[in-house]
Amino acid sequence: MKVKKAIIPAAGYGTRFLPATKSMPKEMLTIVDKPAIQIIVEEAVAAGIEDILIITGRGKDMIQDHFDNTPELEAVLEKQGKAELLKIVQDVSNLANVHYVRQKEALGLGHAVLCAKTFVGNEPFVVMLGDDIVDSDIPCTKQLIDAFETYQCSVVGVQPVDWSQVDKYGIVDVEEIKDRDLRVRGLVEKPALEEAPSNYAILGRYVLTPEIFDKLQNTKPGKNGEIQLTDALRGLLEDQGIVAHNFEGTRYDTGDKLGYLKATVEMGLRHSEVKDRFRDYLKTLGESL
Ligand code: G1P
Repeated sequence: MKVKKAIIPAAGYGTRFLPATKSMPKEMLTIVDKPAIQIIVEEAVAAGIEDILIITGRGKDMIQDHFDNTPELEAVLEKQGKAELLKIVQDVSNLANVHYVRQKEALGLGHAVLCAKTFVGNEPFVVMLGDDIVDSDIPCTKQLIDAFETYQCSVVGVQPVDWSQVDKYGIVDVEEIKDRDLRVRGLVEKPALEEAPSNYAILGRYVLTPEIFDKLQNTKPGKNGEIQLTDALRGLLEDQGIVAHNFEGTRYDTGDKLGYLKATVEMGLRHSEVKDRFRDYLKTLGESL
């Protein structure tokens, strides 16, 4: 079955980015000139996704405004003859069919995904986490969908991380299948270094079969008292295979201050409008460091 739907959990508080996220959704933090969530939506669209559900919460209305029409602004741009800017603005609202549901309480990623049950129905679907931005030739989500089509089971996007970082991620126990595909033997959420079965971390991209919802409904709060998607995946593994795809591309954790700065600098160096001047600036800066 073709994967046509994606969900983006975006109800978190963004505490790692206070005070910026006190009244602004963390998903609206911009990388050069685009809010992080737009970059995620563009990745979904580039992977052939048609419908996207953003799981929001209180204080996140700005996200809906961003993907909506902006008639006043568009009228002004039209009147001023700013055709290029008008196109940029209109393209955002025409990107995809974007839907919304509110997660009333922040009970964890697993609970957020469960809020998408009705939207998803009985189809495989993609989960994309807003903090993880991946720069790659083939969109990360497309790489995972390709693996899903090969194996016809849930796929988690992984990359090896430094062993000192394993306690920040869902970690998979794996054995090799071929190339970048690994068979999942177990999963554990944020293990201590001594308990980590590998250093392959789940980095914010999943293709899941709809059976995950039954598992989520029966998943008790786990790490940090939250309903964890990783725990529900462990339940799913008892019934179905799960593949981990070691995706190609550079992944940035934009929910972290240093990760955000790296994404800004590296994407600035690739931005058509500013890249040359920015490179020159960084060179002069480098000399004085
Ligand atoms: C979540 C998941 C974790 C995953 C991580 C990727 O954790 O629970 O399994 O590895 O996203 O960024 P969070 O970063 O929300 O604590």
